[in-house]
Amino acid sequence: MTQTQKILVTGATGTVGRQVVAELLDRGHEVRALTRDAAKASFPARVELVEGDLTEPDGLAPALAGVTGLHLITFGGAASSPLETGPRILEIARSAGVRRVTVLHGGGPTPLEDAVRAADGVDWTVLMPVEFMANALEWADGIVTNGEVREPFVERLSAMVHEGDIGAVAAVALTREGHGGQEYVITGPEVLTVADKVRTIAAAVGREITLVELTEAEAVAQWRAAGLPEDVIGFLLMVYGNTPEEGRTVSGTVEKITGRPARTFAGWAAEHAELFEGRS
Ligand SMILES: NC(=O)c1ccc[n+]([C@@H]2O[C@H](COP(=O)([O-])OP(=O)(O)OC[C@H]3O[C@@H](n4cnc5c(N)ncnc54)[C@H](OP(=O)(O)O)[C@@H]3O)[C@@H](O)[C@H]2O)c1
Repeated sequence: MTQTQKILVTGATGTVGRQVVAELLDRGHEVRALTRDAAKASFPARVELVEGDLTEPDGLAPALAGVTGLHLITFGGAASSPLETGPRILEIARSAGVRRVTVLHGGGPTPLEDAVRAADGVDWTVLMPVEFMANALEWADGIVTNGEVREPFVERLSAMVHEGDIGAVAAVALTREGHGGQEYVITGPEVLTVADKVRTIAAAVGREITLVELTEAEAVAQWRAAGLPEDVIGFLLMVYGNTPEEGRTVSGTVEKITGRPARTFAGWAAEHAELFEGRS
């Protein structure tokens, strides 16, 4: 039996943070969720919503008062630039009595993650998820409108992870002993190609979906038209064209840490089927 603990979740309105909140609640813990704009956020009533900005750490003291654990993101602000405020956030957290910190790795070294790793007196855990299953939501418009997915590198392999499993690993690391000083590569239970994923969504929605393979140049043009910044386009070309080994290897972390098998993409597709059917 784990004692009830109170955890501050930053990035709580985001893809991963929302799942960290849900998994903590599922385990009976109390959650304080940070957002820059409470009017736009919606959470279950038992979540305590607090306003704060990670670029202004001195304003975070009330949000950190009385919590034992802190989940952090590494980026912030309009341009999603790397947060430089880690040392001050950790200092305030430590004096507030925070004992455990998780940080969502941002795909490379960041000043905030460095500050977490350097923090004395807290048990920190770096969460290193591979590709999120939620990235497939980018295909929803094309599937609803034309019944097609347009992607480059269709044979690339990915051990994509369900966002709920990232949340589950975070929830355990934030509330139980034994995860301090660890980096966890978090993956799903299987390695899939883009074609496998498209077939899985087609089965979930019960309709045919055509996979149109784009050349690299066509993909770049599509991403530019969608407004992606050049550095993100460069990153996508790098990871899609040459996925690192950990991105295409099942790690087993989810089962090891949470005691439950990692969730499948078929399950994820069934949960989100209505978005691919245009019903929501
Ligand atoms: N997509 C992938 O496949 C993948 C794989 C591995 C790792 N990652 C990493 O995952 C991260 C993205 O996570 P996500 O998708 O969960 O994020 P997201 O859905 O884009 O959400 C962003 C969150 O950041 C919060 N935020 C932004 N600036 C803030 C600030 N100045 N102060 C406080 N909160 C702030 C937002 O809160 P409010 O707007 O409510 O304030 C929101 O909750 C990136 O670091 C990325 O590198 C992504």
